[in-house]
Amino acid sequence: MIEGTLEEQAQFIEGLGGIDASARADRGITTNLVHGYCGRDETTGAVSTPIHMSSTFAHPSFYGSTGFMYSRCGNPTRLELENTVALLEGGCKAWAFASGMSAISGLLKLCESGDHFLVSDDLYGGTYRLFSDFYAHYGLEFDYIDFTDLEEVRDSIRPNTRFFFVETPTNPTMKVVDLRAVSDIAHERSIAFVVDNTLLTPYFQRPFDFGADIIVHSGTKYLCGHNDVTAGFIVIRDRELIQDFFNITMSEGALLSPFDSWLMLRSLKTLGVRLERQQANALAIAEFLKGHPHVTDVYYVGDPEHPAHELSCAQTSGFGSMISFRVDVAERVLKALERIEVIAYAESLGSVESLMTFPLMQTHGAMAPELREKLGIDERLLRLSVGIEDVRDLIRDLERALG
Ligand SMILES: Cc1ncc(COP(=O)(O)O)c(C=O)c1O
Repeated sequence: MIEGTLEEQAQFIEGLGGIDASARADRGITTNLVHGYCGRDETTGAVSTPIHMSSTFAHPSFYGSTGFMYSRCGNPTRLELENTVALLEGGCKAWAFASGMSAISGLLKLCESGDHFLVSDDLYGGTYRLFSDFYAHYGLEFDYIDFTDLEEVRDSIRPNTRFFFVETPTNPTMKVVDLRAVSDIAHERSIAFVVDNTLLTPYFQRPFDFGADIIVHSGTKYLCGHNDVTAGFIVIRDRELIQDFFNITMSEGALLSPFDSWLMLRSLKTLGVRLERQQANALAIAEFLKGHPHVTDVYYVGDPEHPAHELSCAQTSGFGSMISFRVDVAERVLKALERIEVIAYAESLGSVESLMTFPLMQTHGAMAPELREKLGIDERLLRLSVGIEDVRDLIRDLERALG
């Protein structure tokens, strides 16, 4: 027996069938980040979770089991990571995938042909490609709308709408979705509300507290924070979905390796200190960019003049460190990307290293041109993911790059 049911396995392993957060509920998030779900390894006392590089697990007797059978179904190192992420988000269960895209793809396995999704229009381009170029061929339907316009949300619902899929803040245009208002609309119509919480992480934003049903992550970004792992997560609030996702994940197996799971656990320990430092740097850089003569627009939610600053303060405990800005002429984009030295010209975001990208050609290259145009993703827009370097060096780099 390799692929036992969840019930068969869960009777042996705490947390396999969903976590019990009660013992850790009164702890601060930074404590839970450092200590994880189980914390120490009970058998050895190791304070760093052991890496269980085993694809299979021997049964102690004919009917006996340690609870682990085969790593596609469950692996102890990955389980500690999954339980830690579930704890941080305030969910009951999480699954760790090999990338953010495989997590989102796993979510879509819940659907049936004919199901309709309403999706944030300012969406990560890879998610847009997965939806429109792949899953649309299997009969799933996607409409891309502005979730900051609640009338548009209500008017776009169809009888077959089963999911809202929202990023907030959006990227690169940094719109903020009112999580409570959107979740109320979803639940009036029995629609599942999915939030991609990649940009703020549970350290700054906990969508379940505002009514979300499912959270997805690219763990590659802030949760990892070191540009050395690709990972993704699905986190669920209610236990009813546990068996469905258990079946999806163990049938498909696009899951995170034990070593990468350990790297992620190690990264999570410093998530809070990294994010605080990244945000402090981002606040200073946004201020610098706002005063720069060759910068025409700056989009940073932490800026008190940002239109969604107040909403953000009401539903998050921080603003993150993603800034988009528009320069005066298109030629300056090329010059800036070639001149930066401390900041790397590279895709991705959220790591300790500062990265700059050109969304038109990179992160949002896969998006339909008319949607990009509607959003203002144009030849003058740059996106900066601020890291933890000395902010004076980052500002000097930008001064040099922007001319
Ligand atoms: C908001 C968001 N969601 C999901 C993804 C996809 O994650 P991954 O690159 O880990 O597959 C990304 C990647 O950039 C992203 O920015």
